[in-house]
Amino acid sequence: MLILGVETSCDDTAAAVLQDGRTILANVVSSQDQVHGPFGGVVPELASRQHIQNILPIVDGALQKAGIKLADLDGMAVTYGPGLVGSLLVGLSLVKGISFRSGIPYVGVNHLEAHLLAIHLEHEVVFPYIALLASGGHTLLYRVDGVADYLFLGGTRDDAAGEAFDKVAKMMGLGYPGGRIIDQLARNGDAKAIRFPRARFLKNSYEFSFSGIKTAVWHYLKECDRQDIERCQADIAASFQEAVVDMLVQPAVRAAVQHSVPRIVLSGGVAANSRLRASMKEKAAGAGIDVFYPAPKFCTDNGAMIALAGYHSLQRGRRDDFQLNADADLTL
Ligand code: KG4
Ligand code: ZN
Repeated sequence: MLILGVETSCDDTAAAVLQDGRTILANVVSSQDQVHGPFGGVVPELASRQHIQNILPIVDGALQKAGIKLADLDGMAVTYGPGLVGSLLVGLSLVKGISFRSGIPYVGVNHLEAHLLAIHLEHEVVFPYIALLASGGHTLLYRVDGVADYLFLGGTRDDAAGEAFDKVAKMMGLGYPGGRIIDQLARNGDAKAIRFPRARFLKNSYEFSFSGIKTAVWHYLKECDRQDIERCQADIAASFQEAVVDMLVQPAVRAAVQHSVPRIVLSGGVAANSRLRASMKEKAAGAGIDVFYPAPKFCTDNGAMIALAGYHSLQRGRRDDFQLNADADLTL
């Protein structure tokens, strides 16, 4: 079964071809980092326009790389939410158009579900598992009992973890997207140099909050002169990152222990963070919990995870009609 997966929910234009739900024949991504970089964040209008330019070459490129033609496809999957509505509409309209013309069935995919299942592209992980989904737009904790069987445990009260990385990088003048840059810089820094505050919640809650740490870094930078900031850049990055990582690790490990689930899966762009991966492994190991994470290219937005989620929907007999619309606030 050959499935085309198309993803345009934010600022990555991505397409992939997946065979039988396990073999990735092609996975092509065009990132818009250069376009949004000067603004320090995604500009929705520009993102839609870039998707329009990129989508056909990206889909063509994926088919070519997979060595197949459109007519060989058994189905298509496309993100229809959540995300930026103008961006979502580009991928959705293209897939609906192809489906209308060719008769190839398609399904709309929930972007969050695709992130939760991305781990299965590379690893055999049995259900249930605790999934931490941390990206530029979301910070969510689920117990995943099976495909289409998700128990919401908690989420962020304000900013997403990736958003905090991006905003702190912008304050420090490091560039966009900030997560990867801070991750790199922090490797040469002392994570104990500055004690940034960690948000605290009731013992049994699985909530997150990242606006406080963002403000704390802002105040810290305001007190320093430019030379201090340049000299201590790596220490600031490492100390900030350590605080974010602590706030992500603790609820995830606690959820695994309290739900007697001996597995944690990381997903979303922030799951590419080297310190998060190491710290989660370390803290979970103490409680006898295994930790799994996708390769960085499957943590950030990609077409392969969309194809995989779509594969499961199509296998269950789901088909979408041409009334399906983009849903910017789609939940799981
Ligand atoms: O999943 P994703 O590609 O897009 C969304 O659905 O949001 O995640 C992008 C986010 C950005 O905020 C980016 O800064 C962050 O993931 N990110 C990282 C790393 N790589 C990407 N954050 C921390 N460390 C990284 N290595
Ligand atoms: Zn995403």
